[in-house]
Amino acid sequence: MNFKKKYFASLILVLIVLVVPFLNSCNDDNGGINVTIPDFDFPTSITFEQNLSTYNLFEGTPSNLQPSDDYHLLELSSILYTDYAKKQRLVKIPTGEQMIRNADGSIDFPDGTILAKTFYYYNDERDTMQGKRIIETRLLIKELDIWNIATYLWNQEQTDASLLLEGLDTPVNWINTDGISRFANYHVPDENECIACHQSNNNMIPLGTTLRNLNRNVTRNNLSLNQISYLQSEGILNDFNLNIVPQIIDYNDNSVLLANRARAYMDLNCSHCHNPTAWEESAETDLDFRYETPLNQTGILDEINGIERLVIDGEMPFIGTTILDEEGVNLIIQYIENL
Ligand code: HEC
Ligand code: HEC
Repeated sequence: MNFKKKYFASLILVLIVLVVPFLNSCNDDNGGINVTIPDFDFPTSITFEQNLSTYNLFEGTPSNLQPSDDYHLLELSSILYTDYAKKQRLVKIPTGEQMIRNADGSIDFPDGTILAKTFYYYNDERDTMQGKRIIETRLLIKELDIWNIATYLWNQEQTDASLLLEGLDTPVNWINTDGISRFANYHVPDENECIACHQSNNNMIPLGTTLRNLNRNVTRNNLSLNQISYLQSEGILNDFNLNIVPQIIDYNDNSVLLANRARAYMDLNCSHCHNPTAWEESAETDLDFRYETPLNQTGILDEINGIERLVIDGEMPFIGTTILDEEGVNLIIQYIENL
């Protein structure tokens, strides 16, 4: 080897040593995502109470999760997957106030609104009489036009829950509807994890309580009726014609078009991070997985392999789950492989 060749060879070597780790800096050896969640410094307007019971969500034995008179049950057509946990969603609107539909279809919540979501597992999903374990109740409270966010960890006796800001892992066992024993090292998110998902333009926001996701039939007082009409009849939502409200479908409904099911799934499980106003680390990917975004503007068509690999490896969704949503992953794969 003459001097020039030697020089050239070592230059290539130096380039490989310098450049390859740099190329890998966003993805680790397994192709993993290497992003850390920052310490968000968003404004808050309340101090959360120490005990959940102070908010009087439930009447009677707390573990029966029977909403008290101040709270209304909310049911969504499509939901966020969280390690197969069951969830109960409640809303409290201060007396004399209403949720108001804005011209753009979003909801304006009055100050004093409380949104609550309780996460639990039935010991045996085939027989709910076998009891359940309630893990956490998450709250969003609006005051002075600012949403505040926190979660409460239920005690072992299941009599109350206490404020938990720093997150926690807790093992859960249950038997699913197929009679199979399942296990998860359930993760209660810390405050920054909550904010990573629940933000838009650097403000905290609710994610599921939208008119299009509430626009479905529910059973109240033994009657089947539209949930929006019900909330209007209860006086906590202003009056408008139901016909103007779009509808997000239930992604578990096999009778619906595959594309709509997959897009509904991605709206509820990906789009809080992948939309233009989301947490900047994920907004920067320029993916927009909101249900109403036309396919050619979602970025899905350019990321078919990436999406497939990341959801199979359990790397996306980035946080919020510890075990794979097998049905959800299958739905995404079926959809993108048929595009
Ligand atoms: C992985 C993203 C993610 C994380 C982390 C997360 N949430 Fe949510 N949250 C959602 C989505 C999506 C919904 C709406 C869908 C649903 O309820 O199934 C929601 C719903 C809620 C609701 C019901 C009101 C509403 O419609 O938004 C509350 C209350 C809530 N979250 C509080 C919290 C708190 C408190 C934390 C942290 C302890 C937290 N969330 C962490 C994504 C997340
Ligand atoms: C809690 C926020 C969060 C959620 C939820 C989430 N992502 Fe991501 N996603 C990120 C972040 C942050 C990145 C950027 C990682 C990086 O910079 O390397 C990312 C990157 C990606 C990428 C790679 C994009 C690129 O340009 O490299 C894809 C594809 C993706 N996500 C798909 C999904 C899918 C599909 C879901 C739902 C199943 C999902 N994500 C849910 C935060 C999230």
